[in-house]
Amino acid sequence: MKKVNWTKIRKLFPATEKYTFLNAAGGSPLPLSAANAGKDFYHESLMHGDAYWENWLKRVDDTRKKLAKFIHADTKEIAFILNTSHGMNLIADILKGKGEILTMNDEFPSSTFPWMHKGFKVKFVKPEKNIYTIENIEKHITKSTKIVISSYVQYRTGFRQDLEKLGKFLKKRNIIFIVNATQAMGALPIDVKKSNIDFLTFSCFKWTLSGYGIGGLYINKKWLKKTNIPQAGWLSVKNPENMDNKHIHLRNEASAIEVGCGHFPNIFALGGALDLLIKIGKKNIQNRILELDTYLEGKLTELNLKTITPLDKKYRSGITIVKIKNAKTIVEKLAKYKVMVAARGEGIRVSVHIYNNEQDIDKFSKVIKKLLRL
Ligand SMILES: Cc1ncc(COP(=O)(O)O)c(C=O)c1O
Repeated sequence: MKKVNWTKIRKLFPATEKYTFLNAAGGSPLPLSAANAGKDFYHESLMHGDAYWENWLKRVDDTRKKLAKFIHADTKEIAFILNTSHGMNLIADILKGKGEILTMNDEFPSSTFPWMHKGFKVKFVKPEKNIYTIENIEKHITKSTKIVISSYVQYRTGFRQDLEKLGKFLKKRNIIFIVNATQAMGALPIDVKKSNIDFLTFSCFKWTLSGYGIGGLYINKKWLKKTNIPQAGWLSVKNPENMDNKHIHLRNEASAIEVGCGHFPNIFALGGALDLLIKIGKKNIQNRILELDTYLEGKLTELNLKTITPLDKKYRSGITIVKIKNAKTIVEKLAKYKVMVAARGEGIRVSVHIYNNEQDIDKFSKVIKKLLRL
């Protein structure tokens, strides 16, 4: 595995010069590669109007290919969407009438509201010490359970699900597997095929380092065969350039769901961010995050602060929830020192990504010690 110069990587995120940014789980600063890719679009539009249309379409295709490869999907299985809620609504439309949902007790509402709104019955698994084991999920499965929805990483505890194990288990029982990957995509490796995932969706403004207004949707090929795309527009068909408005021949591809002209700058920003993530390498990224986690855990122990996050390595993500009373007030005070974290769960959510370093954690630890008079 190649050695990464993390100091150099950090320099690609200018926001880290002014802020101690420990809030990837809220929203990450952009790297230059993402911001520049978005900016290029506006500059081209400014100077050349629509002359770049073909070139933009090609760049969309290139980004789709990169994203597909990144999660081990086929390019035809990838659609660009706006956010997780958008993706979940589309999946719910595809699975209309398929039956009862089982999901996790502390899912973010983007995983549950779209289904509830569309009339699906939604049941919840209660965690044990913030952990969802397969055995526990199994206990909640009944004959009526047709779909399981789980986040890869839970936003309010940091618990990381074993997607391969859960996917294998659900496949055996013929249960549809849907994953909200918003708290992991870009930070932890995803293999949609090995994990037997039917649908996976995520927003890109957190760990994917691409800013707002862009998300990804993976639809396993088998659903593209079985399902009519739930919405259509001029770009949903096999030959859109014909502009035949009387005969609709939908493409058997996830991108048909995009319906019309896309949000180019946001998609290009994702392309720029993926270039960086791919260059660093998925294993390196995961290892660095786990390394910073260990450093943070050491500092918390020194301060005698507890976490509600399951700390076993196999459950570890980039998120740590530090048990603290009056978290909201403390978070506001930390922001005055330009230390950016969030109040979530039963305390303060500290999240570490590739742009962080040990000094960020030292600064957090120093300021929190002062604020809590430890
Ligand atoms: C697990 C999870 N999903 C989704 C979101 C965001 O929702 P959306 O992408 O629908 O804006 C968040 C947090 O903002 C989250 O933690």
